[in-house]
Amino acid sequence: MFAGFTIPEGWTIMVVTSALQVNPNTFEDPLKFNPGRWKDLDSHSISKNFMPFGGGTRQCAGAEYSRVFMATFFHVLVTKYRWTTIKGARIARNPILGFGDGIHIKFSEKKN
Ligand code: HEM
Repeated sequence: MFAGFTIPEGWTIMVVTSALQVNPNTFEDPLKFNPGRWKDLDSHSISKNFMPFGGGTRQCAGAEYSRVFMATFFHVLVTKYRWTTIKGARIARNPILGFGDGIHIKFSEKKN
């Protein structure tokens, strides 16, 4: 028994970190596109609600490298390329974000 919930013997408890990010008790209008949603949160709320790289002593060793890599990748992607979805892209959560039957995208270089 934990916090009023009965956990059957042998069950595994998992934290679905992406679901924490849409908790309306922590984030105002959580489904709105708002990349700055963590900017004004205190460190306690952030450590309990934003953990894409794990937390505590099991924090990801590649977190900073991955952040720089992804920031560079997305910068080049949006400044130098355009894309159109040609098939699929049915977004589903189960509870991890996925694209059902996949997603086909056509990329082309931006012409300035
Ligand atoms: C977007 C990319 C990445 C994500 C989302 C990610 C996420 C995570 C998460 C959630 C954990 C904690 C797992 C747990 O609690 O058991 C973890 C651990 C770890 N990650 Fe990553 N990771 C990424 C990229 C990388 C890269 C590029 C490296 C290495 C170059 C790396 C190395 C590690 C290592 C060594 C651990 C184990 C740390 C420990 O147990 O002390 N990760 N990662």
